[in-house]
Amino acid sequence: MSQIKFYNRTPVPVEMHKVKIVQKISLLPARERLNKLREAGFNTFMLHNGDIFMDMLTDSGVNAMSDNMQSAMLRADDAYAGSETFYRMNDKLTEIFGMKYLLPTHQGRACEHIIAQHFVKPGSCVIMNYHFTTSKAHVTRLGGRVEELVKDEGLIVKSNLPFKGNIDLDKVKACIEKEGVENIAYMRLEAGTNLIGGQPISYENMKEATDLAKEYGIVTVLDASLLQDNLYFIKTREESMKDKSIREITRMIADLFDIVYFSARKFGFGRGGGIMVRDEAMFHAMEDYITMFEGFLTYGGMSVKEMEALIIGFEETMDMDIISQGPQFINHCVNELDKLGVPMVTPGGGLGAHIDARQVVDHIPAEQYPAGSLVAALYLCGGIRGMERGTLSEERNPDGTEHIASVEMVRLAFPRRVFTLSQTEFVIDRVKWLYDHRHLIGGLKFVHEPKTLRFFTGKLEPVSDWPEKLIEAYIADFGEDQ
Ligand code: F0G
Repeated sequence: MSQIKFYNRTPVPVEMHKVKIVQKISLLPARERLNKLREAGFNTFMLHNGDIFMDMLTDSGVNAMSDNMQSAMLRADDAYAGSETFYRMNDKLTEIFGMKYLLPTHQGRACEHIIAQHFVKPGSCVIMNYHFTTSKAHVTRLGGRVEELVKDEGLIVKSNLPFKGNIDLDKVKACIEKEGVENIAYMRLEAGTNLIGGQPISYENMKEATDLAKEYGIVTVLDASLLQDNLYFIKTREESMKDKSIREITRMIADLFDIVYFSARKFGFGRGGGIMVRDEAMFHAMEDYITMFEGFLTYGGMSVKEMEALIIGFEETMDMDIISQGPQFINHCVNELDKLGVPMVTPGGGLGAHIDARQVVDHIPAEQYPAGSLVAALYLCGGIRGMERGTLSEERNPDGTEHIASVEMVRLAFPRRVFTLSQTEFVIDRVKWLYDHRHLIGGLKFVHEPKTLRFFTGKLEPVSDWPEKLIEAYIADFGEDQ
């Protein structure tokens, strides 16, 4: 079903589920939040969950399970080898994707590790519409390089283009000619392109890109971690696909690729991951890595309970009612903030609402992490935890200089089936307050900087006493108890 219609009120998204179990959350007093942020090294990854009011860091592993998912856990078949649960999961994925072989993993980046390990050699090139942090790190760790060939318009923050994740076919051709086919390890298309704002790829573009790869004999890989949202957008934005069911669209997409992998922390509302492979020889070539790095071939690091839940979760992902909630809430949040003048990535994508930090805090130099600073400030203003997606999430250039990200964003993720519309309204209100007080926000600098994936565990400090000034302004408007 598409969005619920209203008779006499401005339409808002309506949840197609009801709440059966709840978890209490609390809003720490304002000054305490500043202490917690300081202890966390101004890095929202290092905060304790109990100190957060609205945890919008990610939709990874924090989506609400359904009653059916939870009850399925009871029938999990515990076995080190040959668990019936595994075969049920393999069958369900084969039914959905039409690919025979499943390599189970503990999460998405483990799939990336194994695929890269198998295909990437020093000097090889991986073609992508856009990178994801972990997918790039696994390629570069092995001496490979990533070529990001998203269409230029995908990087324009404010637009009304429906498929900003589309790859540029001319750039792909030029890249293959330049690199030579033998040096291309594979082409990876990322559904619901995470780092440019959860922006989808059209079915048409996936078809054209994979057709081109096939002409050259290049292996095609789909990162389906965010496929759920991408399916919703294909159904609602791609004219030729509007009468197809989600199941049909999924199958049409999967038929284009040699490999489909996913983080089940996103795809399937659970935890874990998997690589679906079409070709038997390719499957056998990769299976050793599962037993070496993940676990035995029939669990790959996942618990059987999670796997049973996922079998239902995959089925729920084929239900338009269920997969509509995320994009509709995100769209509401993006449109309301846009109306209030806050620079947002438009159109709203999947995964979360994305604020264009480069515009909001244009007084903060790129080397002082504008998005990192904004996300720290947002925690101070209402206990809202977002995620930096910009220069801080990049690795430094080999000469030690900063690699300035092409997009500098704060992501407010919407875990599926978790937040209500009134909580969303609270977030909109606080973001607007922060936007109106943006001149109070200052930059950050590293005091502990890990070499790899520094954004996860790095520690920073403010370049001035701006957090104290910001919190005092906040208290003047809202009081110190919130
Ligand atoms: N691919 C995409 C598109 C992702 O968004 C993620 C994770 C991964 C791969 C890796 O999967 O976390 O299970 O190892 N994204 C999370 C996020 C971390 O918050 O966006 P993982």
